[in-house]
This record gives sequence, C-alpha cells and structure tokens, in this order.
Amino acid sequence: MHAPTVYLNGEFLPREDAKLGADERGVHFADGVYEVVRYFSGKAFTMNEHLDRLRRSLDGIDLPYDAPEIAAVSDELVRRNGLTDARVYWQVTRGVAPRDHVIADDLQPTVYLSAEEARPLAADEPLPTITAITTLDDRWHNCWIKSLMLLPNTLAKTRAAKAGAGEALFVRDGRITEGASTNCFAVFDGELYTHPADRFILEGITRNVVIALADELDIAVHEQAFTAADLPGADEIFVTGTGTLLASITAADGKLVANGRAGAVTQRLWAAFVALINNTC
Ligand SMILES: Cc1ncc(COP(=O)(O)O)c(C=O)c1O
Repeated sequence: MHAPTVYLNGEFLPREDAKLGADERGVHFADGVYEVVRYFSGKAFTMNEHLDRLRRSLDGIDLPYDAPEIAAVSDELVRRNGLTDARVYWQVTRGVAPRDHVIADDLQPTVYLSAEEARPLAADEPLPTITAITTLDDRWHNCWIKSLMLLPNTLAKTRAAKAGAGEALFVRDGRITEGASTNCFAVFDGELYTHPADRFILEGITRNVVIALADELDIAVHEQAFTAADLPGADEIFVTGTGTLLASITAADGKLVANGRAGAVTQRLWAAFVALINNTC
C-alpha cells in the first residue's frame, strides 16, 4: 500500500515526507487549533459549520489566519487518497519560532491536513451503544476553543478505556460538562438536557445538528446542565461527535442507565440523524 497523501503548507505530499520544524509552537506550547470533518459518499457533512468554528478558534487564540484554502484542500485530499467515506483532520498552528512564551508577530502558521478512511453509514445503521465513566473536568476555562491542548482529554479517555468504557464524561462543580471527545445529552421525562454552549464545553457541530433535529421532532430541548448525581435518574443518556456520530450510553460508572438499553428518544434522534446524512451527502 502506498503512503497516504497529506497536505502541509501549500503542498500535497506522501505522509512520510511531511516534516514539521523542531521549533514548531504546536509542539512546544500546543499553540494551535484543529477540526475534524466527516465525509460521507465523497461529500463533507456540515463543512461551513466546521470552517466557522475553525475561524472562531483561531480568533480565540489570536492567530491571524482566515483559512482561505482549507475547504478546497480538504475536498482534494479526500479525492487524492481515493476515499469516499473519510475523516479529515485540519490543524493550524502558530508556526515555527525559537522557543519563547511571548508570541512574535511575524510568524507563518503551519497548516496541516490528513485524511483517513471511515466506515460508510448504512441507511439502516444500528445505533451504537457504549458505556461511560465520570471523571474530574480539570481542563482550562476556554473549552469552546478547539485547542490542540488535549492532554486532559486523552488522559480521561485512557482512564475510560482502562475501565472498559467508551467515553469519559467530565464533571465540573458537580455538573456534567461534556465527554472527552463528545457532547453529552440526557433525557428526563421525555425531554432533552445538555450543557449550555458556554466556555466550559466545545460547541459541538453534531450537538447543534441533534438539537435542530429534536426541534423538528417536537422533543423539548433544555440547554441546561445536569449533574453527575442526576445520572442514575436519567431515562436515557447519549453522546454526540463528528467521530462518534451519536452513541447511546447504556451504563455510567458501572451502573445501568434505565434498563441498560438504548431508549426511544435516542433511537428517534439517531434515525433522523442517519436520514439527514443520507439526504445531504
Ligand atoms: C471535547 C469535545 N467536545 C465535543 C466534541 C464534539 O464536537 P463535534 O460534534 O463538532 O465533533 C468534540 C469533538 O472532537 C470534543 O473534542
């Protein structure tokens, strides 16, 4: 198999030839932001929303770059890798500079994109189910920025994996904020609850799609946090994300959620989500 093609600073090249500078600020300081975009049947899902969020994240770290080429490069990368169903990773960092906390103003950003194959989504794709653990949310106060600084997320996800679970739900001041790489929803009495899109969560694009679908299905949505103590009383819990899509949480911290099976509200939202993807891509 030949090496996948990636994009680095204006060039498409084999992954093994893509080299970052040793004094890359992305490496020294996690000084950069990223996105992951899902392609279905050769078409990007919610491309504009990802571009908008990338620009908000860039603004959030005062990185003056408005990503003019990213959408076209992303599409081209999928094509050059012969993919139809893919996840494309976009990364923009402050660039290469002698290591210094103070950010110089004349830096050239490093722009890197890679694509990997994803499984196609069948029209009758079953709703994925996973289990979760809860864990302390020890991240910074700017979780709305899709920053490269993912150490707390990777440590949390690894704790989940070691406990045999698929996701770690972050708990800040008693409240569930979100998952390590997903947003989290719970159903109480047929109504949907999720943490508001403030500085303590990443405003997930899948989250927003699911909220819009819930509106269409006349499912009440409250952008209002619930607590870890509320979890045992939840009728349903699920998480959303570009990679995960939507997954029902059937147990949290070893305790079954309701009867331990995906619930009716989650199933309805999943069916609507799959139909939306199949209709738009
Ligand atoms: C911390 C966090 N929250 C939520 C999400 C879900 O966001 P999206 O639906 O835009 O992928 C992600 C995705 O990577 C994430 O890392």
